Amino acid sequence: MTRSPESLRSARWFAPDDFRSFGHRSRVLQMGYGYEDWMGKPVIAIVNTWSDANQCHAHFRQRVEDVKRGVLQAGGFPLELPAISLSESMVKPTTMVYRNFLAMETEELLRSHPVDGAVLMGGCDKTTPGLTMGAISMGLPFIYLPAGPMLRGNWKGQVLGSGSDAFKFWDERRAGRLDEQAWREMEAGIARSHGTCMTMGTAATMMGIAEAVGLALPGASSIPAADANHIRMSTDCGRRIVQMVWEDLTPARMLTRAHFENGIACAMAMGCSTNAIIHLIAMSRRAGHPVSLDDFDAFSRRVPVIANIRPSGDRYLMEDFFYAGGLRALLERIRPHLDTGAMTVNGKTLGENIAGSQVHQDDVIRPLSSPIYAEGALAVLRGNLAPDGVIIKPSACAPHLLRHTGRALVFDDYPSLKQAVDDPHLDVNGEDILVLRNAGPKGAGMPEWGMLPIPTRLL
Ligand code: FES
Repeated sequence: MTRSPESLRSARWFAPDDFRSFGHRSRVLQMGYGYEDWMGKPVIAIVNTWSDANQCHAHFRQRVEDVKRGVLQAGGFPLELPAISLSESMVKPTTMVYRNFLAMETEELLRSHPVDGAVLMGGCDKTTPGLTMGAISMGLPFIYLPAGPMLRGNWKGQVLGSGSDAFKFWDERRAGRLDEQAWREMEAGIARSHGTCMTMGTAATMMGIAEAVGLALPGASSIPAADANHIRMSTDCGRRIVQMVWEDLTPARMLTRAHFENGIACAMAMGCSTNAIIHLIAMSRRAGHPVSLDDFDAFSRRVPVIANIRPSGDRYLMEDFFYAGGLRALLERIRPHLDTGAMTVNGKTLGENIAGSQVHQDDVIRPLSSPIYAEGALAVLRGNLAPDGVIIKPSACAPHLLRHTGRALVFDDYPSLKQAVDDPHLDVNGEDILVLRNAGPKGAGMPEWGMLPIPTRLL
C-alpha cells in the first residue's frame, strides 16, 4: 500500500478541523451517512452514462449498484456521478460533436468533487473515448467498465447484425422485396437486449481497445451485457478500484507509448472500425504518448485480422466472440505483436492477464496462420483526393473494390447526395463512385439538423 488515509485526496475535503470541512462533513451527514461510512476511506466516483434515451446503457441503472457493492466490500465509499449519455442512434447531429464534451465533463466531475478514484461506465461508441480521455487528463486512478455487446439479432431464425443487416435489408425494402410486416418484425428482432451494437463497429472496437490498453479488467470487454458474468465483472471493478487508490496506480504511473501500440495491434486483429484511429490518437495524446496515422499504417502491415466478426468477417458476432474465448484469447494469439510487459488496471501485466487463455472455436478467432485478412483491418492511403491521408477498411471490402477506375460524382452536402441516389434519371453507371466532400461547417454531414464544426482543440 502506497497511500495512507491521511494522504487521500478526499481527506482535503473531510479531514481538517476548519469551517469548510465542517460544511462538507455536515452535508454528507445530511444524506444519512455516518462517519464510519466515509471517514478515512477512498471515495470512489462512479461516472455513469446511463439515461432513458440510451438503449445501449439501459442496464447501467442496475450495474451501478453492482459496482457500489464492490466498492463497499473493499472498504471504499461510492458516489455515483451522472454524465452525459451519448446514444449513437439517438443523438443528432452526431455524437462526435459531444465526445469532447463528455471528456471535459468527466475531467471536471472528477476534479471538482472529493473523490480519490473512479469507475467509468460507458460503451456506446463515443462514450469510451470521451470518458477515458477525461479521466486520463485528470490523473486519478480509474477503471473503465465496458457496457458489453447486446445479444445477436434474430429474425425468423436468421441471425441479424447491427448496422450491416439494417443497410442490407433497407435496400431490399426499397426494392419492394420486403413487405411492411417483415420490416416491422426485423425492427423488433435486430436489437433484442440491452448492450451495444454487436458487430465489430465503433463500440466493440473501442471497448476492446480500452481493455488492450490496460484500462479495463481482463476479459471485461467481451462479456455480453445480458450475461451474469457482466454483473460480477461490475462488482470486481468496484472492489479493484479501491485497491488501485491505495496503490496510487494513476494513469501517469501506468501508461506508456507501448500501451497505445498494444491498442493499435488489438484493433488490427479485431478488424476494427475506422473510428478507432481518431479516438485512440486522442486518448494517447491525453496521456502524453501520442501515436499517429503512420503507427496505424505500420501495424496494419504486420498484424493480420483474425477475428471473424462482421463486417470484416462474414459470419459471427460479438456473442460468438465471447463464447470462442473473447479478447484475452485473441490477444494471446497476437502475443508476438504486443508489449506484454505493459501494466494494467488489475496490477498485473498484459502478458500475465492473457496467459493461458484459449480459443474454443478456431473459425471465430483464427490462428495467425489462417487469418481473415493477411494485413491489418485498416490502410492509410494518400493521393490527390486526400493529400493528408485517408483511411480505408480493406478487410471489409470485396477484393474487386481494392483497385478501381471510374468517374467520381462529387457532392458538397448530404441532402444533394441523398436526392441524387434516389433519382431514377441520374446519369450513372456501375463504375461511378459517389464522393461526399467535406466543405466545412455548412457542408458534409446532416444539415437538416445543422452541421456543427467538430472541436479539434482537445484531440
Ligand atoms: Fe450504441 Fe451502436 S447505438 S453502440
